[in-house]
Amino acid sequence: MNINISEMNATLKSVFGFDDFRDLQKPIVTSVMSGKDSLSILKTSGGKSLCYQMPAIYRGGTTLVISPLISLMKDQVDGLTNRGVPASFVNSSLTSQEMNERYRKLSRGEYTLFYVSPERFMDESFVGALVRSPLHTIAIDEAHCASQWGHDFRPSYARLGEYIDRLDDHLSKRVGHRIQRIAFTATATARVQEDIIKMLRLTDPDKHIQDFDRENLSYSVVLSRKPDRSSEIIQALEEHKGDCTIIYCVTVKEVERLYSHLSSQGFNVDRYHGRLENEEKSRVQDDFIAGNIQILVSTSAFGMGVDKADVRLVLHAQMPGSLEAWYQEAGRAGRDGKPSKAILFYHENDKNIHKFFIGAASPDITKIEPIKDMIYRMLKNGAAGLDPKIISLNCSRQIAVINSVMPSNGLPLTEISVNDVRATINLLVNQGEIEEFDTMYQISNWQPAVEYVWVDEVKRHNWLKFNAMCSWCETNLCRRWQILRYFDERKAHYRCGNCDNCQREALSKLKHTLPEKTVRPSTLMALANAISSVEKTPSRWVHVLLGTLPVSELTPHETEVSGRFAWHAVADLRRWRNMLIDNEFLSDQHSITEKGQAWISGKLTIPDASAPKQSDPSNEVSLQTVNLRMKALRSWRKTTAYRQDISEISISTEAQLKKIASLPSISIESLTNSGFSSGWVSQHAETMLKILKKIEETPSNDL
Ligand SMILES: Nc1ncnc2c1ncn2[C@@H]1O[C@H](COP(=O)(O)OP(=O)(O)OP(=O)(O)O)[C@@H](O)[C@H]1O
Ligand SMILES: [Mg+2]
Ligand SMILES: [Zn+2]
Repeated sequence: MNINISEMNATLKSVFGFDDFRDLQKPIVTSVMSGKDSLSILKTSGGKSLCYQMPAIYRGGTTLVISPLISLMKDQVDGLTNRGVPASFVNSSLTSQEMNERYRKLSRGEYTLFYVSPERFMDESFVGALVRSPLHTIAIDEAHCASQWGHDFRPSYARLGEYIDRLDDHLSKRVGHRIQRIAFTATATARVQEDIIKMLRLTDPDKHIQDFDRENLSYSVVLSRKPDRSSEIIQALEEHKGDCTIIYCVTVKEVERLYSHLSSQGFNVDRYHGRLENEEKSRVQDDFIAGNIQILVSTSAFGMGVDKADVRLVLHAQMPGSLEAWYQEAGRAGRDGKPSKAILFYHENDKNIHKFFIGAASPDITKIEPIKDMIYRMLKNGAAGLDPKIISLNCSRQIAVINSVMPSNGLPLTEISVNDVRATINLLVNQGEIEEFDTMYQISNWQPAVEYVWVDEVKRHNWLKFNAMCSWCETNLCRRWQILRYFDERKAHYRCGNCDNCQREALSKLKHTLPEKTVRPSTLMALANAISSVEKTPSRWVHVLLGTLPVSELTPHETEVSGRFAWHAVADLRRWRNMLIDNEFLSDQHSITEKGQAWISGKLTIPDASAPKQSDPSNEVSLQTVNLRMKALRSWRKTTAYRQDISEISISTEAQLKKIASLPSISIESLTNSGFSSGWVSQHAETMLKILKKIEETPSNDL
């Protein structure tokens, strides 16, 4: 169907009330109107909804919108109805009478847009109504949920391709064309894009990919010394008094803790997470959108699709498990394009939570089979509860019996942990093999002989994502550049000027000081652990830690650290590694020594790593001293140049001054040893040394 531009502009104004299309909206709407399948990646708040709503209004037939966000369907539908567009939704909040009424209207083609969650395809009345309806297009919102490689995988999304294919078989003959599939998401790496196309079975899709950059957001990471970050968070809140803020935590427990702490301090704060009753969730969401709540503490459950334009500050009270998750959450700030901030408070304890999650998400594949057998026996006669403790005990006992009866044929397994069982139950629920209701389980789509090799691949992939997140937190390079690089925006190295690392560097230039280049003990410990996990082949460790080797070439231990230091300079890694060996924390063969163990367990400290080669701490020159000396040296150079009427540079370059300022002790001898010519020394050293001596004697707070 062809429409002209002026017609499109008129609809934009009359139905949606907007003057102009945003960035990619026009090409996407045009592509959708042409009838082709498509995948569109528009950043958070880029205006994805309009891209499927507008074509739906233009042409006959119904557009079905799949969204995971049951709580937001009503808002979307109300918005459309107010603009005179026939729209509706079905979700579990309706009575069966209401549902049937809406299905009837759906089948008669009375809705231009109809919203459902993917699980709805399990409902036969719904599918029946769809088969009779004039369905034209299926728009899949938040399509990254279809990919195992994404950060929010939902099994019901992964099955959509299959569901829609089946619909097509029934429908296409009657409506005269294949059902168009259009997918939308805000974040997808190249791999996730490929996977979305595969899982949703898009045919030769047009791809629209927007520049990921959110220029109005400034990024920073605060490396916290204590696991409890409350006071740092309160400080940030005080600096942004009155600003609408979301604070993300990884666990429900932390949400509740921080929420009660902040309320006791008198902040206008509420909280949101998956364990609240649906009613309470909608109340909090509505209050936040209406501006009655200033600060919302939440898990990742809050925010996808929430259209609140003036969030000025997004804090992460704990590190999320992937950069995809962080970027999407941080992206909830500044949807109106005004300057806004995202600050992540990071403590190394955060890593343990994610290590646990990765384990819980993917069981050890050798253990799935025996656990699955046990579960089958428990459920084959009907629904029952599944207690992970009992299952783990029974499985372990059984293995012991088999091993004692047939020692030679015995299973290589010895024990099955409660976590293995939990992870397996999760897996079976996600795969639809068993179903969970209330606290009971029952057999559903049981697959007796299925291979779970892919579970291992998912686990490896989760490690990679997690390592990238840790490395990003610890990097000294521009955070924005790193993020864009991660999402495959092939930008050459640049400094954005709007992240903490860029600002730190700019500041040090301004003050003529050395950029801060420290390494934290926790980073060194992580490095020691990482290096010791790599196969002992010379130089392999660098490639593993930078994440440049293909996953298929890695051992399981290496997978866990692959890419862990992807964003560090190789020179730094080598320097730190040598330092670990010099301090005898790491052996030449890269295993952690006894002394290293003592250091890791906090019984020993390591000298400041910011001063590279100096293993003797008394040799270190503090940044403060260097700065003081630089100031004095510059003024000495200036006066000398003036007196002798020559240029400053002919006396010394900035780099030479820095070299002098960094010498542990400055004397004629040390200057000569550092490469200054005897002519230069005899001409300048005497007055210069006098000046330096003076500042060494005068205590100063002038920094
Ligand atoms: N062309 C436009 N001009 C002005 N405002 C627009 C335009 N298109 C969309 N908007 C507004 O931008 C906001 C975000 O739109 P929308 O909710 O569709 O974003 P989204 O891409 O789905 O974001 P998310 O990834 O968070 O779901 C809405 O308030 C919408 O009304
Ligand atoms: Mg949206
Ligand atoms: Zn930057």
